[in-house]
Amino acid sequence: MTKLKEFPAGFFWGGATAANQCEGAWNIDGKGVSISDVMTSGSHKVPRRITLDIDESKYYYPSHESVDFYHRYKEDIALCAEMGFNIFRMSINWTRIFPNGNETEPNEKGLEFYDKVFAELKKYSIEPLVTIYHNENPLQLTHEFNGWADRKCMDYFLRFCEVLFTRYKDTVKYWIPFNEINCLTTKLGNWNHAGILNGKTEFFIAQIDDPSKRFAALHHQFVASAKAVLMGKKINSNFQFGTMICHITVYPLTCNPDDIILTQEEDLLRNCFSGDVQVKGIYPYYIKRYFERNGISFKITDEDLEVIKKGVVDFYSFSYYMSNCISSDKESAQVSGNVMGGAKNPYLSASEWDWQIDPKGLRYTLNHVFDRYNVPIMVTENGLGARDTFEDGRIHDEYRIDYIRQHIEQMRLAIDDGVNLVGYTPWASIDLVSVSTGEMEKRYGFIYVDKDNEGNGTLDRYRKDSFHWYKKVIESNGNELY
Ligand code: BG6
Repeated sequence: MTKLKEFPAGFFWGGATAANQCEGAWNIDGKGVSISDVMTSGSHKVPRRITLDIDESKYYYPSHESVDFYHRYKEDIALCAEMGFNIFRMSINWTRIFPNGNETEPNEKGLEFYDKVFAELKKYSIEPLVTIYHNENPLQLTHEFNGWADRKCMDYFLRFCEVLFTRYKDTVKYWIPFNEINCLTTKLGNWNHAGILNGKTEFFIAQIDDPSKRFAALHHQFVASAKAVLMGKKINSNFQFGTMICHITVYPLTCNPDDIILTQEEDLLRNCFSGDVQVKGIYPYYIKRYFERNGISFKITDEDLEVIKKGVVDFYSFSYYMSNCISSDKESAQVSGNVMGGAKNPYLSASEWDWQIDPKGLRYTLNHVFDRYNVPIMVTENGLGARDTFEDGRIHDEYRIDYIRQHIEQMRLAIDDGVNLVGYTPWASIDLVSVSTGEMEKRYGFIYVDKDNEGNGTLDRYRKDSFHWYKKVIESNGNELY
């Protein structure tokens, strides 16, 4: 028996966050209103609402304070350093830099905040991994032209990128232009991923979908991403850019050929399409067929295609929380998911929020995407949303340890298979607001934050059992998992 390959030296171990879910300070130091700031709290059963006029007397908006990373970043980064992080995934809140998105000059106070965050990371030799867009579109751009449905959004985004690339050219090397860009292949992507609101509806779940607009928005993001890559490389040729795919791995529920065909279609559309555009630089054949069959049309210019071809990313990153089954049987039992649910897999258990847990699916996915793209890979989100019990300053979250341990074991097997996996930033470094439900108590962090779903709590931080465990994992470069 040959010895299992180890995690490579210099492997990136860290954790992930997003500005709108952890910073708070939603209207401080010149920050404008983002699309996340008008989303109310909800739960697994009660959908969040989008209220274009903020009414704090009537609704609770979890992003407004969140876990106040804005004022506590030093403490939070020190805790990440204590765990041994050598990478920290974060996003830059667009409306801190361009409050309405359409200004010509950036807000200096916003830039200064990130100067300080990066300086703090540097103090501990932690590499920043920066997502430029993570559900933080300026609300004004929805009012003006329905967000990314309009090409104009690209220009504003690129102005934002130029400011970031110039200011942080010696500080940040790794950039992800768009978080989970492929969410725009589903109707739930409209709001969070593009600031698109069609019609008067204010319910998150009941958004009116116009697939032509939605796929136009996705196209505009592809072009913007490619232009950002080309611009960034001119500013600093060492910059490394990545795609970020919400990978919901799909299996056929049965070996019925109808299930197989449906699964393949679903996989190509949801998981492969965006990666194919951003990594291979091409619009794949199957998407043309999908557009034709579904009456989807929007403008793609020759220049767009040329830019997409040239502005390919350097690495592939993805979030992996679950897998789902696909069935041609409309009566099959269903489960939830972050952007799409699917048929229930009888071999898997699920979290309290009904997300199926499938560590082996991560190994399968890593092999699948490495074979397809052959570029370095990072798992930039993975984790368990669970309710924690706080007992005298201790949080015994062995379920989270189990979840992450099993996924790390599968990552190691994938490395042994030959996959060039270079980093792991589980979701999340610290407890923060859940995107799908707006809850605090759907917790993901290694660091516990004293705050509940209604916004009560001291915001004090505590180390969970998983904190101590993950520290050991990092210290041993993934060798000590028990
Ligand atoms: C990913 C998002 O889809 O899933 C994160 O990039 C999100 O922003 C994470 O928080 C977990 O989802 P949720 O809905 O439980 O917060």
